[in-house]
Amino acid sequence: MRFPGHGHRRHPDDDIVIGPLDLSARVDEALAVQAVAFGLGADEVAVRRQIVLRHMTYPGARALGATSAGRLVGFVYGMPNDRAHWWSTVVEPYLRAQGHETWLDDSFVITELHVHPHHQNRGIGRSLITTITDGAAEPRSILSAIDTDSPARGLYHSLGYMDLARQVLFPSAPKPYAVMGAPLPLRRR
Ligand SMILES: CC(C)(COP(=O)(O)OP(=O)(O)OC[C@H]1O[C@@H](n2cnc3c(N)ncnc32)[C@H](O)[C@@H]1OP(=O)(O)O)[C@@H](O)C(=O)NCCC(=O)NCCS
Repeated sequence: MRFPGHGHRRHPDDDIVIGPLDLSARVDEALAVQAVAFGLGADEVAVRRQIVLRHMTYPGARALGATSAGRLVGFVYGMPNDRAHWWSTVVEPYLRAQGHETWLDDSFVITELHVHPHHQNRGIGRSLITTITDGAAEPRSILSAIDTDSPARGLYHSLGYMDLARQVLFPSAPKPYAVMGAPLPLRRR
């Protein structure tokens, strides 16, 4: 349900509100959610903090938060893809090898999506990613996820994301990733 004038969407299941997030101002809260959802140590949080603050200066970068009584319990952020960005340069040869390189153009990248474990499986992740991509001008969306049968991969498949490349290796990441892409708007159930 929309609340005109507020730009917020009240989540149907409970007291969760989905709305714009000033991620630069709330980066520590967001990384606390990511640390427990994704499993990050203190060193990784410090590195991610600088990356997130830099990302939010990129053209078109946007974030949404899910809050419960004002407390952040989930967030998503992304931006229009730019082939000069580090992520794009890493995945480009893998996509090219599969004939999927053009997905790097006119695409909205989902950079992070995390929901606190206490609040997972209630549709919050689905609301966050569909709402942020509904606001994208681009006709499609791309992302990377650890290449395993995770809830994240299940969610992305159900939204119409397909595998564009598998076993993609990012420098310093121990596990291989899958790169996925979907037409926008994302598929509804
Ligand atoms: C991925 C994540 C954000 C999803 O958030 P969420 O709020 O729990 O997701 P939702 O409740 O909206 O959707 C859950 C969907 O995940 C999928 N899912 C959940 N558990 C699953 C499982 N065990 N196997 C396969 N798919 C599963 C289903 O598609 C489910 O949708 P449905 O039950 O409505 O059909 C959350 O699990 C998370 O934060 N995980 C850890 C961090 C992470 O991996 N982030 C993504 C990095 S790429």
